Amino acid sequence: MRKQIVAGNWKMNLSIAEGKQLVQDVLAQLPELSSGKHVVFGTPHIHLCQTVDQTKDQAQVSVAGQNCHHEVSGAYTGEISAAMLQSAGVQYVIIGHSERRMYNHEDNALLAKKTDAALAAGLQVIFCCGEPLEIRDADTQNAYVEHQLQESLFHLSAEQMAQITIAYEPIWAIGTGRTASAAQAQDMHQHIRAVVAAKYGAAIADDTAILYGGSCKASNAPELFACADVDGGLIGGASLVAADFLGIIRAMIASR
Ligand code: PGA
Repeated sequence: MRKQIVAGNWKMNLSIAEGKQLVQDVLAQLPELSSGKHVVFGTPHIHLCQTVDQTKDQAQVSVAGQNCHHEVSGAYTGEISAAMLQSAGVQYVIIGHSERRMYNHEDNALLAKKTDAALAAGLQVIFCCGEPLEIRDADTQNAYVEHQLQESLFHLSAEQMAQITIAYEPIWAIGTGRTASAAQAQDMHQHIRAVVAAKYGAAIADDTAILYGGSCKASNAPELFACADVDGGLIGGASLVAADFLGIIRAMIASR
């Protein structure tokens, strides 16, 4: 049975004290997570050790870095390696977020190297894909996303692919308040699963969690998570407020 995950992506937000309080508030009201359901906090690097410590007693609650470098170590000022994340007790790393693709010029080839580095360090990868508005308007989003997956992931072995969670995040829906409809999300998630199946076979595709991201909130999460191929969400803005994040977690719990 494939996992369901609600992962928060705090982006560049929250002081140390605010992050600590947020995690404390979420954990204080976190409903019991049945097997296969997971919550992840994707925090800025300075929060990672604290968040790992706060969540260490909860087997189904984990911490994600928001980026890692593609090299193992070296003279890369300001960067962090996958092994460093792993050494902090972090289990996941978000790779390929559209903001890093845009502002840090990360392309599919570089993201393939980052994915390799993360897997080599023993991390699980939340790999983001998704199209900009002009691609959606031209109705070529399926080919666009397929190309992103092919160039960044499809060199992996089947065993490695099992460590990948895919997050579909249409860029036009991120932070805009404009969510993909449940039908648009389901269509793309089904397409992604079919593309993974064509490369790796049905069993691996069936086991791959595919999260939706982009203005996902407690109010629209039930409809999105009810889709057969939507296995949870990658949550930006709504992960910064405990009540909002908990509402999305409850929607995941109720969905299957
Ligand atoms: P949003 O961000 O929920 O604020 O739209 C999602 C993301 O970028 O992961």
